[in-house]
Amino acid sequence: MKDIDSLASMYVCDSCCCGNTEKGHYEVPVNKLKIAWKKEELDKKVNLIISNCLGYCSLHNVTMLKNGSKKTWIGKLNSREHFEAVITWAHSVAEFGNKAKLPNILVPHLFLPSDI
Ligand code: FES
Repeated sequence: MKDIDSLASMYVCDSCCCGNTEKGHYEVPVNKLKIAWKKEELDKKVNLIISNCLGYCSLHNVTMLKNGSKKTWIGKLNSREHFEAVITWAHSVAEFGNKAKLPNILVPHLFLPSDI
């Protein structure tokens, strides 16, 4: 059995910009994500971390998947469908690890920090 430190981790930013509705950004559905992680038993395979600022505020709302040394970044999540796709992505990570498929709806949201 994997210990918790060896699990993939999904960092969902909910901080100064991400999720800040006063700045006009889509609210991060923190409770919905936590409930899905628990109810759908994702918590045994993928850590859910509701994080402080990840450093790319201009791309609000940012989520980063860390799986081993690999990091995958997505930004500009601004709908219920985007966050539902994050849950779908987590299921794929739980099943396929680094071979997980990013849901199509999230592909246009990929970014590389080196390009920012
Ligand atoms: S507040 Fe989310 S990246 Fe800065």
